[in-house]
Amino acid sequence: MGTTSSVLVMLFALFFIARLEFICSSTNSNVSCIASEREALMKIKGNLTDEANRLSSWVGKDCCTWKGVGCSNETGHVVKLDLRNPIPATYKDGPFTADFDPIFKMNALRGRVSPSLLDLNHLHYLDLSMNNMRMPNSLGSLKSLRYLDLSGSIFNATIPHHLGNLSRLQYLNLSCNHLFGPIPDTLGRLTSLTVLDLSKNFINSDSMLYSLCNLSSLVHIDLSRDWLRGAIPHCLGNLASLSILMLNHNQLQGPIPSEMGNMTQLTELHLFLNAFQGPIPSEMGNMTQLTKLVLSANAFQGEIPNSMRNLCNLRVLDLSDNMFTGKLSTSIGSPFGCIHNSLEDLSLFSNKLSGGLPNHLGEFKKLERLTIRMNSFYGSHIQLEKGPSKEAALRSCYGFS
Ligand SMILES: *[C@@H]1O[C@H](CO)[C@@H](O)[C@H](O)[C@H]1NC(C)=O
Ligand SMILES: *[C@@H]1O[C@H](CO)[C@@H](O)[C@H](O)[C@H]1NC(C)=O
Ligand SMILES: *[C@@H]1O[C@H](CO)[C@@H](O)[C@H](O)[C@H]1NC(C)=O
Ligand SMILES: *[C@@H]1O[C@H](CO)[C@@H](O)[C@H](O)[C@H]1NC(C)=O
Ligand SMILES: *[C@@H]1O[C@H](CO)[C@@H](O)[C@H](O)[C@H]1NC(C)=O
Ligand SMILES: *[C@@H]1O[C@H](CO)[C@@H](O)[C@H](O)[C@H]1NC(C)=O
Ligand SMILES: *[C@@H]1O[C@H](CO)[C@@H](O)[C@H](O)[C@H]1NC(C)=O
Ligand SMILES: *[C@@H]1O[C@H](CO)[C@@H](O)[C@H](O)[C@H]1NC(C)=O
Ligand SMILES: *[C@@H]1O[C@H](CO)[C@@H](O)[C@H](O)[C@H]1NC(C)=O
Repeated sequence: MGTTSSVLVMLFALFFIARLEFICSSTNSNVSCIASEREALMKIKGNLTDEANRLSSWVGKDCCTWKGVGCSNETGHVVKLDLRNPIPATYKDGPFTADFDPIFKMNALRGRVSPSLLDLNHLHYLDLSMNNMRMPNSLGSLKSLRYLDLSGSIFNATIPHHLGNLSRLQYLNLSCNHLFGPIPDTLGRLTSLTVLDLSKNFINSDSMLYSLCNLSSLVHIDLSRDWLRGAIPHCLGNLASLSILMLNHNQLQGPIPSEMGNMTQLTELHLFLNAFQGPIPSEMGNMTQLTKLVLSANAFQGEIPNSMRNLCNLRVLDLSDNMFTGKLSTSIGSPFGCIHNSLEDLSLFSNKLSGGLPNHLGEFKKLERLTIRMNSFYGSHIQLEKGPSKEAALRSCYGFS
């Protein structure tokens, strides 16, 4: 009996070892790490404090199997480095407190990113976001990069000029940092860029938005909460592929250029909480893909143009807290056009609108919320607020900045 069971144990052990060998050889057979890139990764690890042992798999020869590291199966080069903090950032007492969730904090890698990062010069994808790391001085030599996310890092500097050398970049996210100073005009060379997020920094200077006018691939721009000053340049209307433009929470002024009507792919335009002036240009009626238009808390004036009734996809229109004048019955409240088929949330409170409420309100079949307080309408005591309360527009800055 004793011999039978020990034979079984031995057989089992042999089988197990064989399996193990099979697994090891199958992972090693194809990609194997390039020695100099392994060295670079070891130096990066060596300079970081890693309380949660996130880099515990960074041992042994084959760096291509290390967690967060990806190699090309054709060249063997390291093409991907993803060290994003895996814990979603939450605060113990709601946003805007410095007291992070301790688990988030523990999972944040700390220290200075070794300049050896620049030896990984085949990287396509680099995500170091939501850690407590300082960046090396120049990333401009990582010329293969397509995707760069350094959001929520410690990046107390001006926006680096050398980023303009990353000519293949498609995604750039520097949100939630301590970046200050102007948007460098070298960013105007990033002609492959589709997503640009510089929100929640301290760009506190003349906006230099014209640096972006040549970037005709852009689909998504977020420059909200950046302390931007100055006006929207006319040339921004060149961005014909743009779908989302967020410029809210800045100190921008001047009018909306009529050229913006050329942005016919735009689905969301957020200009609230700025110091914009002047009328809504009638060309905005050409932005027929718009679903959200938020112009509240500015100094816009004049009549709401008739052309707005052609915005057949518009669900949210917020013009509140401006100085708009005139009657609704001739513009968005008229029976013509199609805006009444889609509009769900119309906010007009605190303007100088007058006249009666449109007779055709009944045709706004999807309207859930209508806010018209503080105008000069007849019967403006009427309130219709049956929908859920408006989602809080405030987003907090997560990360260590
Ligand atoms: C990786 O393995 C596949 C299938 O086994 C093979 O076709 C390919 O050539 C291998 N690549 C390298 C770099 O060895
Ligand atoms: C980073 O690591 C290198 C060795 O790779 C060392 O010489 C250097 O002092 C370290 N720097 C910091 C800030 O820890
Ligand atoms: C490399 O991997 C990708 C995705 O896993 C696959 O589509 C491609 O065929 C692979 N190339 C080679 C040469 O094995
Ligand atoms: C980036 O481009 C500038 C020219 O705009 C050049 O002077 C600089 O050396 C380049 N930097 C890198 C790291 O390639
Ligand atoms: C950023 O750096 C400057 C000096 O370079 C310093 O005065 C300032 O306090 C730093 N800000 C933060 C938030 O670390
Ligand atoms: C940029 O990064 C922040 C923080 O990681 C994230 O919340 C945001 O969605 C990103 N922006 C875009 C446009 O992907
Ligand atoms: C935009 O492109 C034009 C023509 O290619 C060039 O003359 C101009 O300097 C560029 N502007 C910016 C801000 O990069
Ligand atoms: C953009 O709009 C302006 C004024 O609204 C117009 O004159 C111009 O022809 C338009 N450009 C393009 C490329 O459509
Ligand atoms: C854009 O709107 C203006 C004014 O509403 C109109 O005159 C013009 O023809 C429109 N342009 C296009 C390309 O639809």
